Amino acid sequence: MPRVFQAIEIEKEDKEAKRDYLDRHMPHVICPDEVRKGERFEVKIRLGNNYTHPDSDDHFINILQLWNREVLLAEARYVAGVYAHKPNHSEVSFYIVAPEISMNFSAMAVCTKHGLWQSEDKPVKVL
Ligand SMILES: [Fe+2]
Repeated sequence: MPRVFQAIEIEKEDKEAKRDYLDRHMPHVICPDEVRKGERFEVKIRLGNNYTHPDSDDHFINILQLWNREVLLAEARYVAGVYAHKPNHSEVSFYIVAPEISMNFSAMAVCTKHGLWQSEDKPVKVL
């Protein structure tokens, strides 16, 4: 079983010393806080706030996943060189139609060298 790096664990780490390493791998879920039932809306996953991740042949982000609680909703897979072998913020947008009940999104990202990373939860209220 691989170790899953979570946002909450950042607080336990030596934040200053590892700040760039943690930031460049951490996925974020970006979407509205509230949506209307039946509304189609964008859910974006983006890696890193301040630091970009490499895109080299042996080190790149190859999977981004969107979860609603325990259900995998969508997944994107990449190969090395998608970003011209230049450091970048990997991102993908998925489009979801709001169900009847509120959602609690999270994102997972896989780095080919540094493993599995989990975002903070992103609750979305359905009106
Ligand atoms: Fe990495």
